[in-house]
Amino acid sequence: MQLLDDLQADHQLIDQVLGSLRAFVTARLEGRGDPADGPVFMAFFRRYAGDYHHAREEEVLFRALCERAELPADRGPIAALTAEHRRMGGVLEALAVLLEDPAPGPELQALAVAYSRALWHHLDAENSVIFPESQEHLRQFNIRELAARPMTPAEAAAREAGAALVAVYPPQEDLDFQRGDGCIHCPSYNTTCDGLEREWWTEHAWDDFNERMSGD
Ligand SMILES: [Fe+2]
Ligand SMILES: [Fe+2]
Repeated sequence: MQLLDDLQADHQLIDQVLGSLRAFVTARLEGRGDPADGPVFMAFFRRYAGDYHHAREEEVLFRALCERAELPADRGPIAALTAEHRRMGGVLEALAVLLEDPAPGPELQALAVAYSRALWHHLDAENSVIFPESQEHLRQFNIRELAARPMTPAEAAAREAGAALVAVYPPQEDLDFQRGDGCIHCPSYNTTCDGLEREWWTEHAWDDFNERMSGD
């Protein structure tokens, strides 16, 4: 499905710019880095990651899953991922305030770590669980493509400017942070979401699964 391929391609860039943001924050704490790049990072995450990417997931993909593929909107992965978009948006606004400080302290680093780790886990959960499962669920309802709106010029400009910062601040690796596939690393797992199998699988899917496992 083209939409899912496009969303996954968005993730690759967002992933890189997160690492670049971490490198930028490290540089700022050491008195390096151009403070004027702070708003450029913020525009990337607000306009491109938020208004365009997360919004496309909510308004096109999640809406289709609820309205056309009979999946619940008020609990499980869709409610959890939507709430994560809101929560991460709040952290981002707090980060924007600290980035304006001409002499930032360790709280900026702490918030950048929190934001990047939350969004990395979120990307991994969508790539490894939600996108493949969405494709399967939509296919069962004969939905093979979903139309999404194009990027606005402001979103495209925010994307380009953010992408250009990756060359200026090569992505910093977070060696103390474990990424991974599946529900297990998702921030919402066992808090607001019981995991894909319990939330989305029907009795029929479980029968199929058990049959496959028993080798019948
Ligand atoms: Fe998302
Ligand atoms: Fe996403």
